[in-house]
Amino acid sequence: MMEMYLLSIIIASIFIIPFALKTLSPYFWVDVLYLRDLLRIFVTFLSRRRRRPFFFVLDRFLEQTAAHPDKLFIVFENESYTYTYTDKRSNKIANALQSHPGYKAGDAVALFMGNEPAFMFTWLALAKLGSPVALLNHNIRTKSLLHCFNCCNATVLIAAAELKEAVEDVLPSLIEHGVTVLLMTKHCDTPGIESFSDKVDEASDSPLPQSLRSHITFKSPAVYIYTSGTTGLPKAALINQNRLLIALAILSSNGVTASDVIYVNLPLYHTAGFMIGFIGSIETGSTIILKRKFSASQFWDDCRKNNVTVVQYIGEVMRYLCSTPKRENDKDHKVKLAIGNGVRAEIWREFLSRFGNIEVREFYASTEGNVGFVNYAGKVGAIGRVNFFHKKLFPYTLIRYDTERDEPIRDANGLCVESLKGETGLLVSKITDIAPFVGYAQNEEQTERKRLRNVLKKGDLYFNSGDLMRIDKDNFIYFQDRVGDTFRWKGENVATTEVSDILTISDCLKEANVYGVEVPGHEGRIGMAAVTVKEGSHFDGSQIYNHVVSYLPSYARPRFMRIQNAMEVTGTFKQMKMKLVEESFNPGCIQDPLHILDDHKKSYMPLTAEIYSCIISGNIKL
Ligand SMILES: *[C@@H]1O[C@H](CO)[C@@H](O)[C@H](O)[C@H]1NC(C)=O
Ligand SMILES: *[C@@H]1O[C@H](CO)[C@@H](O)[C@H](O)[C@H]1NC(C)=O
Ligand SMILES: *[C@@H]1O[C@H](CO)[C@@H](O)[C@H](O)[C@H]1NC(C)=O
Repeated sequence: MMEMYLLSIIIASIFIIPFALKTLSPYFWVDVLYLRDLLRIFVTFLSRRRRRPFFFVLDRFLEQTAAHPDKLFIVFENESYTYTYTDKRSNKIANALQSHPGYKAGDAVALFMGNEPAFMFTWLALAKLGSPVALLNHNIRTKSLLHCFNCCNATVLIAAAELKEAVEDVLPSLIEHGVTVLLMTKHCDTPGIESFSDKVDEASDSPLPQSLRSHITFKSPAVYIYTSGTTGLPKAALINQNRLLIALAILSSNGVTASDVIYVNLPLYHTAGFMIGFIGSIETGSTIILKRKFSASQFWDDCRKNNVTVVQYIGEVMRYLCSTPKRENDKDHKVKLAIGNGVRAEIWREFLSRFGNIEVREFYASTEGNVGFVNYAGKVGAIGRVNFFHKKLFPYTLIRYDTERDEPIRDANGLCVESLKGETGLLVSKITDIAPFVGYAQNEEQTERKRLRNVLKKGDLYFNSGDLMRIDKDNFIYFQDRVGDTFRWKGENVATTEVSDILTISDCLKEANVYGVEVPGHEGRIGMAAVTVKEGSHFDGSQIYNHVVSYLPSYARPRFMRIQNAMEVTGTFKQMKMKLVEESFNPGCIQDPLHILDDHKKSYMPLTAEIYSCIISGNIKL
């Protein structure tokens, strides 16, 4: 299958290159170089797929360890660990786990931990034991935490010591289901939670036999990464071994090598931190400078201190970096490449002029999706570029979309309509053998919602990215917006229905329509809810505040509430959102009472014109 594609690329390029040379596109050479990289990635991938016994990401790590045992792999705060140490430490974790009666090799395990070296050691240990790993977001609590834990059918939960209270909140349910709960600490008094670090320290560091992994194929689940989808609670996107093997190429295909030092400051439970930062570095054999949490004020000092050459970003990271006070040594660093997604054109320009000549590789990809782009030409503002070969391999297109009805526009034959150049459309990508859509664990309904049928031909099947894009006359692709029921805030996706489900189980609210509104000077959209109050009840700001804080992570909490007498719905009883989004949170224009979440007063307080103007002028930070 793959070989056929490869062959067709090579043949096509022989015919196309002389033609393209004649047309002299200004981007001709970058396109050719990209094609060369694509080919190289393919060849490496194919040769690995043929190896027996099977070759997985773990095997690449073992290769790197053998190749340079004493090289630093992870630097974290004042600690640093070589490849060999990492290998041995993960052996210890694996051996300790294997001798635990509550676990057998191959069982799914949930990892509940922030960014720290133990996260990586534990993941490698579980890979050695042939266990799929669910990467739980360490910000989630109570109901959401249980839901995420239950999606992946794990029998063991391994948690960081500082998350003990969050684990205790859900402990009765875990115990009821016979889950083994291990805490990364040397001593624990809570019945039902066992200390694990002490057992790891005592365990042997001898390698684990490969036979433990002999049942694994390329289709076996490797990790579950949670994404906030269009409806309901977070969904576990299944990343299989094949996909992880492809992810190895992400940094290397952008020119990163063993001599690079990568600054990983994004959460490891998300795709960017895990697949690009961690897995990508395993391929290149680089050193990772791991940061517990992104800090704009420490960013460049960390880079200088550690001779960082590659940084990862999301839109917010770039914006926060640009809004720190200017310093004389802003350009004094060794960073040559920034790789990430979501940076706005104006911030991108400011970043370059302020921090020097850094190559920005903006890309587009989703955790579960089957299409990705990278802006290899450095065109400011674009997320990628239409490339003939890429499009042949991964057929995708933009189709016209009705944002008010929240569905693709269809013609008289019931087929979708492709957008013209320059026109905004919904990105859809054909589901094929080499571009599969695996879907979500134990959630066929949500998986089906991301499938789109009868797109260009009767009976065809596409992945619905949920993202609106535009392609310009030079074939650059620009991200425009998300459709439907999610918005992004502080780098996290927020599912509006998840939030509204939580709001409507509070004591005084009857209905809630949740959406995101833009705030000047901020990336993404901040949460807002239009709500109605139960009959005989009243809007109790502090009760709602307590409810929201105990159920939702901070980025998902609605910052503004708009109290309505009745909720507007469409003919099909879908809640109207577009008008509310446009009206935003300006008390000067909205008759309904508005409230703002106030963390100092621990309540939702009336939103006055004065507070509003402070937000708009940037005097109140959200
Ligand atoms: C790192 O610093 C902490 C205090 O900040 C100290 O407790 C710890 O022992 C240090 N670790 C190493 C490896 O130096
Ligand atoms: C859940 O795990 C158990 C044992 O680990 C297995 O027997 C069962 O088939 C799994 N169920 C699903 C839905 O994956
Ligand atoms: C960074 O590079 C400088 C000069 O090349 C070198 O002296 C220094 O030891 C390096 N620092 C680290 C942490 O590698």
